[in-house]
Amino acid sequence: MIVAGSIGSGQQIPSTRTLASELGISRIPVLNAYAQLLAEGYFEARVGAGTFVCSSLPEQATHPEKSRKSWVPENLARRCVARTARMLPRFERGPWARHEGAFDLSQGALDEFPHKVWANLLARHSRNPLTSSLGYGDSRGLRRLREVIAIYLRTSRAVRCEPQQIMIVSGSQQAVNLSTRVLLDPGSPVWMEEPGYWLARHVLMAAGCRIVPVPVDAEGLDVTAGIRRCRTARAAFVTPSHQFPLGVTMSAARRLRLLDWARSAGAWIVEDDYDSEYRYQSKPVASLQGLDEASRVIYIGTFSKVLFPSLRIGYLVVPPDLVDRFLSMRYAMDINPPHLYQAVLADFIGEGHFSRHIRRMRTLYNERRTLLVDSLQRTFGSRLRILGDMAGMHLTVTLPNGLNDSEIANRAARESLWLWPLSPSYIAKAAAHGFILGFGSTASSEIPRAVEHLRAVLGPPEGIPTSKTEMPRTAHHAPYFRRPRRLPRRSGLT
Ligand SMILES: Cc1ncc(COP(=O)(O)O)c(C=O)c1O
Repeated sequence: MIVAGSIGSGQQIPSTRTLASELGISRIPVLNAYAQLLAEGYFEARVGAGTFVCSSLPEQATHPEKSRKSWVPENLARRCVARTARMLPRFERGPWARHEGAFDLSQGALDEFPHKVWANLLARHSRNPLTSSLGYGDSRGLRRLREVIAIYLRTSRAVRCEPQQIMIVSGSQQAVNLSTRVLLDPGSPVWMEEPGYWLARHVLMAAGCRIVPVPVDAEGLDVTAGIRRCRTARAAFVTPSHQFPLGVTMSAARRLRLLDWARSAGAWIVEDDYDSEYRYQSKPVASLQGLDEASRVIYIGTFSKVLFPSLRIGYLVVPPDLVDRFLSMRYAMDINPPHLYQAVLADFIGEGHFSRHIRRMRTLYNERRTLLVDSLQRTFGSRLRILGDMAGMHLTVTLPNGLNDSEIANRAARESLWLWPLSPSYIAKAAAHGFILGFGSTASSEIPRAVEHLRAVLGPPEGIPTSKTEMPRTAHHAPYFRRPRRLPRRSGLT
């Protein structure tokens, strides 16, 4: 009432005894409330006279008008925010970002996750926590988790690393953020794949970096084009195992060329290896970091795709000489990652549940992927071009020229079909329109129906001109259109 102006400054208020009797309550809560208001400076006591509303409260803070209006900023020009914050696009998310329904891009088969195993591990660690697990921890994260990750990375991803080079972070998003803060300055030119991962782009924008879009072709990031556009870039952000969103795998020649450029330009390479566990027609390709002789690569991995995104656990592998820099920056950001899920995850990996889960999911996703490719081909023939279906949990289809993906996606969303449009992944004018279709979380039984729904949204295939969009094509990858393979047998449930 004081702040709203209905009790004015300097006004006397009833004694505690009177108010308690008026309200029909004990005097103790009234005494406590008065003491609190005195302590906070809303009341003042005058000896021999009683208690008053503080006479020095500013007039405009207690104006009766205030109680009628909700707060309105008085002068927008004076509400300064950082220039870099203004450089980010408005926080608007398309309806397809609801993470629902067929083709969801953001997650895998969450219902197939071994929840029981996870719950047992969680109970084990939360029932009898060690006191050491309740205090501040190592800024790199739990040592035991870093050890099992190091073994996994060395054996499965050919990453050269020791546990002391690994830092556990809150998903690859924090890893990109941390790398940006340690390695880049406002104005630093940085190569970004075009099209590329918009959330990495936003980190660079928020850091005030100058983004240099470098086209992706059938061999991945076009290093020659990058050098032509900005030889002296400070860093390159790449997804070499499974380019996001086009899905190409960077060729060996390009990897070596990229490393060579980084060495001669004194540049950093940030390798985002977000879904490399799943490759369907060959063994997972080795990391770029494993080829790096000059310690120029910062390797990033995440458990968002392979386990579940709400876990918010990812990791960085940092060159040995940069570990201290990353540690200082991490300490200034959030000190260290939370303990509990790290401990659970360390056991989940260490006891073999992780590799068992990956094996099961690889079979399941392969089944879903094959079904999706088959349904798309049967329904659209060559009218939609399929890209990047040999790995990961999504593929991309490109539309013929003249069709606008965002418009179609908005229309589809009104009919509860959520399609991620391709064109927002471009910084400059989109070279292609299309959709990024997740298949990890779409049950096999749902896929033909979802493709039929897509057909209904796009109109009859005869009405869609044959796709002429020039997109990555290459001899060293399997063809985009392929006959469905016989499915491998499903392994038993955990
Ligand atoms: C290119 C890319 N990197 C990383 C991620 C995962 O991010 P995070 O680990 O922050 O959940 C995704 C998720 O969709 C992605 O598409």
